[in-house]
Amino acid sequence: MNAVIDHARSRGSPRGEPVRLKDGSFCHIRPIGRDDSETVMACFDGLSDASRRLRFFGAKRALTEAELAYLSGADGREHLAFAAVRRDALGRDTEVLGAARCIRSTPGSETAELAMAVVDRAQGNGVGTALLDHLMEAAREQGIRRFRCEVLADNEGMRALAKRLGGHPGWLDDGTLEYDCPLPDAPAAPKPNPNPKRASRRRPVPRSVSWRTDRPVPAPWTDSWERAAKVSVAFFETAALTWYDNVLPGQFGR
Ligand SMILES: CC(C)(COP(=O)(O)OP(=O)(O)OC[C@H]1O[C@@H](n2cnc3c(N)ncnc32)[C@H](O)[C@@H]1OP(=O)(O)O)[C@@H](O)C(=O)NCCC(=O)NCCS
Repeated sequence: MNAVIDHARSRGSPRGEPVRLKDGSFCHIRPIGRDDSETVMACFDGLSDASRRLRFFGAKRALTEAELAYLSGADGREHLAFAAVRRDALGRDTEVLGAARCIRSTPGSETAELAMAVVDRAQGNGVGTALLDHLMEAAREQGIRRFRCEVLADNEGMRALAKRLGGHPGWLDDGTLEYDCPLPDAPAAPKPNPNPKRASRRRPVPRSVSWRTDRPVPAPWTDSWERAAKVSVAFFETAALTWYDNVLPGQFGR
């Protein structure tokens, strides 16, 4: 069955900006909402038998009604799902490139099961990475702390993505790999400036922690005072030694 994308039902991507892919083209990442079965079907239709095996762990010719309802049932809290789509100049969806979702292991759990698929013609172009970035951010906002992902051992692409997420693989009884991926904390948002006019006249406040090393970075004034103090101590030490070695013996006949 070839799904037709409902152009009238295009939604905005969460941040609204298009995502640049490896080949220089752009796509949009947008949530898959309820009753969005066309998007789910378009993604499934774009998968080869090999990709379907990797996604569904077996041969799959079609999705059942129940599966379609389940995959189209994202609610944004327990079940989060995003699609990567191409758009025309009017902002209408023209092509589905892939989909990624996470579903909490149990209601309210901080662990969610991750699954994704990119249509064969778009694989290796950064779509999977873009989908995962968006899903991760949305999941974190909903209090999800880790993704768990079951992967067939020969699935190089998904293993690469799970590894990049910092996932640790473990073998399951049926010979598949399970990745446990703790989600990194969101970068701290800068504090709102209560008085932007005054602040703009002030010198910028130095960062207190280096983002490269996580070690404290000395503030510039601390640094220069410390250097001046060291130079002074060295100067007085030298003067005292010179006085002790050269002047003192002359005065007391040492
Ligand atoms: C796994 C999958 C989602 C990856 O999506 P994608 O859009 O092809 O991934 P990206 O282009 O963002 O590539 C991500 C990284 O994985 C690596 N990668 C992707 N496919 C790979 C492959 N077949 N072999 C080795 N590495 C691969 C890439 O090198 C890339 O790393 P890089 O950016 O450093 O070059 C996609 O291949 C797919 O849908 N596969 C079939 C379904 C499936 O396996 N689903 C996962 C089960 S939950």
